[in-house]
Amino acid sequence: KDSLNYLANKAGKRYLGTAIQAYQLADTRYTQILESQFDAITPENEMKWEVVEPTEGNFDFSGTDKIVAEAKKTGSIVRGHNICWDSQTPSWVTSITDPTRLKQVLKNHIDAVIGRYKDDLAYFDIVNEPLNENGTYKSNVWYNVLGESYIETALRYAHEVAPNMKLCINDYNIETVNAKSKAMATLSAKLLAKNAPLHCIGVYSVRFGSSIHHLTERVSLIGFESHFIGGSTPKDIPASMKQFSDLGLEVPMTELDVRIPVNGNDQPANATVAKEQVDDYYTSIAACLGNEMCPGVSIWQFADPTSWIPGVFKGANYVALFPVVYSYGAALLYDAEYQPKSTYYVVQQAL
Ligand code: XIL
Repeated sequence: KDSLNYLANKAGKRYLGTAIQAYQLADTRYTQILESQFDAITPENEMKWEVVEPTEGNFDFSGTDKIVAEAKKTGSIVRGHNICWDSQTPSWVTSITDPTRLKQVLKNHIDAVIGRYKDDLAYFDIVNEPLNENGTYKSNVWYNVLGESYIETALRYAHEVAPNMKLCINDYNIETVNAKSKAMATLSAKLLAKNAPLHCIGVYSVRFGSSIHHLTERVSLIGFESHFIGGSTPKDIPASMKQFSDLGLEVPMTELDVRIPVNGNDQPANATVAKEQVDDYYTSIAACLGNEMCPGVSIWQFADPTSWIPGVFKGANYVALFPVVYSYGAALLYDAEYQPKSTYYVVQQAL
């Protein structure tokens, strides 16, 4: 066997995951790769607030149900994604200004979503992208109405419903040692420290039961999104991961892709960027394998045509570096014909 999940498992019981969308499960060529190469699934959009609870109290679990059923078929783990974010959250939520009401809305949502899947999901990105690049809190309804305590509140609500689920904070640009990852480490330490005393102060254990005890072990893992650019993937991923694993937190890579400038056919713009991309995939996988607290790597989709990259990164920033305006793309492991690319083989090799 040389499938990615088999190799990842052999390389220290890691999982090799991918984001998928429920509608793709109807494509047998797609599911054939999914089932043979990956053993962890993240719903790319299906669990986001705007999809799951578009209007108050009306839940749509159809997409996630399909994904969870698929995962059960093959024994894959599922990573839930996400609860508190500044994006893809409906305006009936983002327009709330009363803290008590916002907390109630958050609790109802968590009870419904996490309650439904409490035995099905191994991980859940509870808080997504909470920090600005300079390490301050991002402006979103959660922070603006509840202050920084929203993070702890959401984690606790989730843990109450699903005591065995591993709960994560997920963010990008924290894969290198910088202001943002340092702020994330400070935030993590703060969250952990708040609960460390609770192991020995009886009254709190009575009031909160095991939820406190588990906070150190289970709550607030840090997800490294890892949306990289070929040639500028950080060289110090291990050092950044260590900031969190030293605190006892797991450091999964949650949304890996390596985008490069492409021509109109979503092919690498030149040989240099193609080579940089392959090297960066190697570096990323090696970083995970080099830290025993990294449980696995999830790629954000696996075939280029359904990658989010071309739609979002149209290359405006590249004008300064290249005479031509390139778009970014070709970020994944398989091409439009579902054939493995050099990026696939380098991941295999790195594992
Ligand atoms: C992206 C999806 O891939 C797109 O389909 C959607 O239109 C927008 O969101 N960080 C995250 C993911 O945590 O949820 C984002 O997913 C990509 C960036």
